[in-house]
Amino acid sequence: MRSKLVAGNWKMHGDFVKNAALLGELVTVDTSVAGMVVIPPFPYLAQCRELLGARGVGIGAQDVSEHPSGAYTGEVSASMLGDVGCEYVLVGHSERRSIHGESDKVVARKAVAACAGELVPIICVGESLEERERGETRSVVERQLSTVLSVAGLDVLRKSVVAYEPVWAIGTGRTATPEQAQEVHAFIRGILAARDEGCAASIGILYGGSVKASNAADLFAMPDVDGGLVGGASLVAREFLEIHRAAVMAVR
Ligand code: 13P
Repeated sequence: MRSKLVAGNWKMHGDFVKNAALLGELVTVDTSVAGMVVIPPFPYLAQCRELLGARGVGIGAQDVSEHPSGAYTGEVSASMLGDVGCEYVLVGHSERRSIHGESDKVVARKAVAACAGELVPIICVGESLEERERGETRSVVERQLSTVLSVAGLDVLRKSVVAYEPVWAIGTGRTATPEQAQEVHAFIRGILAARDEGCAASIGILYGGSVKASNAADLFAMPDVDGGLVGGASLVAREFLEIHRAAVMAVR
């Protein structure tokens, strides 16, 4: 059976004082049944590592360079992230795709770089509101995923987590219904199953987009929803812990 995971994407939020208070509440969480990962801005990765210790809650970064090293001002490589204790990295978050112009190919190359640096890429896919209204949800998600398959290959996918984040649900308070999430998650698993049954059966597929304590249990109860990628609610300890509890309850 696949394990459940809740990951908190802090986006560009936090400071040393606020982070310490939040991490102080997260540090004692029991991750034996469902995993927890925090994904702070780069400058706070070391603080997270220090306050969370070496076990339990995992640490991820929000982006990674597609290059291993060199003259790439402003970029951070996978091995550097590993040096500060990261185990995960987001690639292809919709904000990176839309605001920073990352193409499907760049996202796929970042997934390759993450794996080469022994990080687990959390590969984000999802359609915009216009695309959903035009009935293009499946074709958009399929295009995003097929580029990863063709550029990065199955070996990278086997070591990755996928996050389905419909753009219209991110930061809007408008969550996909559990049925809408399940439908796309099953579709994603089907695309992978056509290439490799084992990969499809074992890969974690997280849902992201206005996940809160009040809707997490219903989302996580869906058979192909293996946890959540949480934005705003991951900045509030009580809320994030309740979302994690919902993941634990979904396993039991
Ligand atoms: P919200 O949970 O704030 O909608 O953000 C979702 C997200 O983008 C997580 O990566």
